[in-house]
Amino acid sequence: MKLTQNTFICLIIKIAILCFGFNRITANTAPQKDLLNPKELRVEYLENPMGITVLSPRFSWLLEGNGRNRSQSAYQILVSSSKKNLEEDQGDTWDSGKVSSHDTNQIVYAGDNLISNTDYYWKVKIWDESNQESEWSEPGHWSMGLLNFSDWQGQFISHDVGYDTTDKYDSLYLPPARYLRKSFQITKKVKRATVYSTALGLYELRLNGEKVGDDYFAPGWTDYNERLYYQTHDITNSIKQGDNAIGAVIADGWYAGYIGYALLVRLDKVREFYGVNPSFMGQLHIQYEDGTEEVLATDSTWKSNEGPVREADILMGEKYDARLEHSGWDTPGYDDQGWKTPKVYTYPDGKLEAHPSSLIKNIERLRPVKITEPEPGTYIFDLGKNFAGIAELKVEGPAGTEVRLRFGEILKQDGNIQTENLRLARATDTYILKGEGVEVWQPKFTYHGFQYVEVTGYPGKPSLDAITGIVLSSIKTDASTFKTSNEMNNTLYENIKTTQEANFFDIPTDCPQRDERLGWTGDAQTYMRSATYNADVASFMTKFLVDLDDAQRWYGAYPNFAPFPYSRPNQYSPAWMDAGIIIPYNMYKVYNDKRILEFMYKGMEKFMEFQADASTDFIRPGGGNNWGDWLAVDEETSKGYIGASFYGYDAKLMAEIAEVLGRTQDAQKYRVLFENIKKAFSEKYILPDGRTTEDTQTTYALALYFDLFPENLAEKGAARLAEKIEKNSFKFSSGFLGTKHVMLALSKYGYHDLAYKLFKQTEYPSWGYSVENGSTSIWERWNSYTKNDAENSDLNAKMNSFSHYAFGSVAEWMFLHAVGIGTEDGGYRNIRIKPVISKEVDFINGSYKSINGTIASSWKWQGNKVLMTVDIPVNTKAKVHIPIENISDLREGNKKLAKVPSIKVVATNEKEAILEIGSGTYSFSFKYAP
Ligand code: BGC
Repeated sequence: MKLTQNTFICLIIKIAILCFGFNRITANTAPQKDLLNPKELRVEYLENPMGITVLSPRFSWLLEGNGRNRSQSAYQILVSSSKKNLEEDQGDTWDSGKVSSHDTNQIVYAGDNLISNTDYYWKVKIWDESNQESEWSEPGHWSMGLLNFSDWQGQFISHDVGYDTTDKYDSLYLPPARYLRKSFQITKKVKRATVYSTALGLYELRLNGEKVGDDYFAPGWTDYNERLYYQTHDITNSIKQGDNAIGAVIADGWYAGYIGYALLVRLDKVREFYGVNPSFMGQLHIQYEDGTEEVLATDSTWKSNEGPVREADILMGEKYDARLEHSGWDTPGYDDQGWKTPKVYTYPDGKLEAHPSSLIKNIERLRPVKITEPEPGTYIFDLGKNFAGIAELKVEGPAGTEVRLRFGEILKQDGNIQTENLRLARATDTYILKGEGVEVWQPKFTYHGFQYVEVTGYPGKPSLDAITGIVLSSIKTDASTFKTSNEMNNTLYENIKTTQEANFFDIPTDCPQRDERLGWTGDAQTYMRSATYNADVASFMTKFLVDLDDAQRWYGAYPNFAPFPYSRPNQYSPAWMDAGIIIPYNMYKVYNDKRILEFMYKGMEKFMEFQADASTDFIRPGGGNNWGDWLAVDEETSKGYIGASFYGYDAKLMAEIAEVLGRTQDAQKYRVLFENIKKAFSEKYILPDGRTTEDTQTTYALALYFDLFPENLAEKGAARLAEKIEKNSFKFSSGFLGTKHVMLALSKYGYHDLAYKLFKQTEYPSWGYSVENGSTSIWERWNSYTKNDAENSDLNAKMNSFSHYAFGSVAEWMFLHAVGIGTEDGGYRNIRIKPVISKEVDFINGSYKSINGTIASSWKWQGNKVLMTVDIPVNTKAKVHIPIENISDLREGNKKLAKVPSIKVVATNEKEAILEIGSGTYSFSFKYAP
């Protein structure tokens, strides 16, 4: 195009206007960045918790905002005694003032003494990196529970159902549930009504015909001799002027019912581990508008009875005879004259505290995917996945019809459910119809691990909606996302989450189906870090650590499971007892929780002394039960090796824990101990050529991961591990303890392709093998089942769970190495992004919602180039490791790295470049030849 003089002048003028205008626009708006606003307020890790008993609770919030390098420079917290005061910015209980700090979690309340049975309201605002002040957050809320002995007026009450002294081994004793009720009147205007309740046993609280709250299995499982948890509910809107009725249904639960394998192995006690009769205690605190207050507590003026729940046992199942319902028993106006005076029990000896976490809830409802009828009148409902929970039954038919539900994880070849692997868990629910229209029933005091429900006795042919799966869990696995090009691995990820939900059931259980369901410590420690990636388990694991601390043996060992209801001596084992150190350490690492480290510290020291005592020249022998590398295949690692190596790992973690707690002398003591163990260990178990004396996959994995190899031999050890895996056709020979460490050790020493080959493997033994065999969950054993082997082999019949999270511990590797999200300090403030990139997969996308916000990392191949995207949350920093030799080949966005001022290059070497970035989204691209 030819420019005429006129158009040229016009162009110059336009450019001038544009430039001038642009300058004005930038001058007006440039410095203003989006405000960072605090969200998702939590108190003691919980959203608006009720009735807590922590006297100086900890606060946290999350920050969100656009742009890069955003951070908090200060915060202010207001805590008020009323909503109104908070709205008017009156922190009458605590005004922290403007505190210069980057912290957004583990912030300890420091206001006036918190008062029993009182509501508190709080909010927070922050100042960003440019000192811009945010809005106040949405208000948060919590209430304090009953803090003083004198606050408690309720008595533990129950209904006397007699006692059947049946032979304890050969027949089951399953007493009925007990019903308790009380009518009361409200004559004045209510300002606030709160109910505090608990039971020795299990209870469901009722008010005016409705269940109070949405919890299952209240009050949770603890060592009831040590402590009992209670629940708090705000019922201000559920009580009415005039007549009201409150009630409770109680059953044996963990307190008095069957627990674990006691019946199977014929222990002295098979049930009633904490007491014989379940009892309930509660009190209703009513504050009236006129300033007066009334407490209505359980006592002998309540009424008691039996009812339709004829049997109620966690392992054995529930039986409900609807013909025996007391219609309207939990509503006002019910005539309870025929009911009895309850039996009053004395208070238990232990502590009475608020449950530190949330209770079990119904997290999902499942519609059956299929019904089959392998035998006339036997209907099998397939719920599509193997979960923990109950089945809701919908039925219509004549009174007295008995419908029986049994549960199985897999089907036999004839299409019937397999129940042999449940061992002595009867896992059978029975419903007897009252014959009045459509009847819908859910059991209250039992649960099962199952995919299939066998229904017999159903009147007529059931339709698909006769059964609904009620998925129960203490947690939701919504903290992470994971996707890769290999579909099998995506299914594996789903299976891991399903199995975690099925087993995070007030405590981390080994399995939800057979007569076990115990808080096995070895399983919990090996899976701990994986658990944190999939779900927010901060309060859940806090609760479990209290159980573990309560269960510590007098001589210092942590037991095989917690709570520990049996009175059996020497119930400990290497790699199981070490949960007492490994789990708290990870609570610090993931949630920056130093308080739990302080809480556990004395016990951990005692445990270290126990280990020192048991050791000779720094070698801790096997000892206790010692299951070794449980369920390993083909190779056996000696129990001594496992005992000695975990002792070294404990010493290493203790040094770090002591350092974090500012106990520098202790830290030094444990560092020296670690060095001594390492020396003794390598002298005993590591040969001069870098091989271990036992030469199993597990021996290399543990020693490499625990840093027990002498520095000059570690590379050789790693090479030998790699060689062994190759020779074993890229398959495992390891069990519960070795497997995840094989993955972690391979990635630590740069054998990325090998780690991916194991991850993708579908031949036995591998994770893919279970997925290829149609599993929706993680199996206890590598070879739990094959499509061609659906008949019960001896193995299947005896001990075989299809919902065991322990082998799901590969999730730790998936997030730490494949996605590449780790933390350098406690709580992901200083994040490490270091994905292991391999040609074995086309891409990996993942994210993790940490206590400091959501971190995302993904990478994919584009020809011989890698595109990597990273999302770093506000108020955190990340070191990003990029496998590149020459930094000048690296681009971020469309620019060469040198042109992106917000990125700092902190180190380069022949293997990688390490960049430091602040919050924001970054896309890197680089050529890579692994
Ligand atoms: C449990 C395991 C547990 C093991 C101890 C089993 O019965 O199910 O998960 O760790 O015993 O070896």
